[in-house]
Amino acid sequence: MTEGDETDLVRRGYNALSYHYRSDDAGDGRYAPWLAELKERLPRAGSVLDLGCGCGIPVARSLADSGYPVTGVDISEVQIERARRLVPAGTFLVADATQIRFPRGSFDAIVCLYALIHMPLAAQPQLLRHAAGWLRPAGWLLMVAGHHAWTGTQDNWLNGSAPMWWSHADAATYRSWLEQAGLEVTRQALVPEGDGGHSLFWARRPPLASAQSNRQQAQREARRPRTTCCLTETVPGGTGQLAHHAWPNRAKNARLDHHHSHAAPALARRCTKDFSPAAVCATSNRMTTSPTASTQLGRSHGHAARPITGAGGPGSRVFRGCGRGPGAG
Ligand SMILES: C[S@@+](CC[C@H](N)C(=O)[O-])C[C@H]1O[C@@H](n2cnc3c(N)ncnc32)[C@H](O)[C@@H]1O
Repeated sequence: MTEGDETDLVRRGYNALSYHYRSDDAGDGRYAPWLAELKERLPRAGSVLDLGCGCGIPVARSLADSGYPVTGVDISEVQIERARRLVPAGTFLVADATQIRFPRGSFDAIVCLYALIHMPLAAQPQLLRHAAGWLRPAGWLLMVAGHHAWTGTQDNWLNGSAPMWWSHADAATYRSWLEQAGLEVTRQALVPEGDGGHSLFWARRPPLASAQSNRQQAQREARRPRTTCCLTETVPGGTGQLAHHAWPNRAKNARLDHHHSHAAPALARRCTKDFSPAAVCATSNRMTTSPTASTQLGRSHGHAARPITGAGGPGSRVFRGCGRGPGAG
């Protein structure tokens, strides 16, 4: 079977089994707590996209009744026909969710419950990437997908006459796809069913401020000189602390400064005067360090710290522990 055949089998299957799957008057059932939580997370009148919305019961109905604009997408004509009748306030589209496109930042939340598992596995990560883009910053994705990986067909599903096809990855894979799509997974849970179950995910598009600051931070890091420079020190006599830093980590530089001012005042003066990578390297070649510290230095930066003199005082040795390299430690 080709991907197109499988998608068509699912479409025809839900056309035939729509009422077997859910009646017009079904209650919210297990969806009730999910819907309540979704509404708490939504801004006032926040817009929601329901991918694989089925007949609109219960998700679109519940959201529309609470005043949220909802758009449902489903590949089955029968499901969409029912949804339009059952949830007149909603907007419903017959479309393949893996093919449809929306402008970026169109929705405050996207819901996709038990639907991704009917789409070709190869198309699922891309759909999640698109969905992440359709969310506004700080928007939520609520998804129920596979827990164990499985692809296959079942005849007479729901005691109906049509076969049905599923294709899903395991929970860890879904989580990694969500993260690769740029979403923060804030919760993952098993929804038990028989001997197995499905995985529920709450994932969020990062708010603008944090997305911007992450981007800016990445740009700053990319512009910074890629010099590896590290040093370790201990106060002569073995009572001192380890100061171990790698350019270009500002936080660690700050710690270095702190340690210098306690353990090696002369070096502290030099380091704070000029904090360029070269100055730090020059400084670290003259540092006093303990053997333990030097081991750590060598391991974490891929080069050994070599002793150059034993002038550091009791329990200490001086190591040449500094190198320039393509990447920071
Ligand atoms: C198990 S039902 C779930 C319906 C609804 N989300 C719910 O939880 O009640 C799966 C739905 O996904 C729809 N679906 C499957 N593949 C789809 C695709 N490629 N694009 C859009 N909808 C699809 C099916 O037609 C079906 O209505």
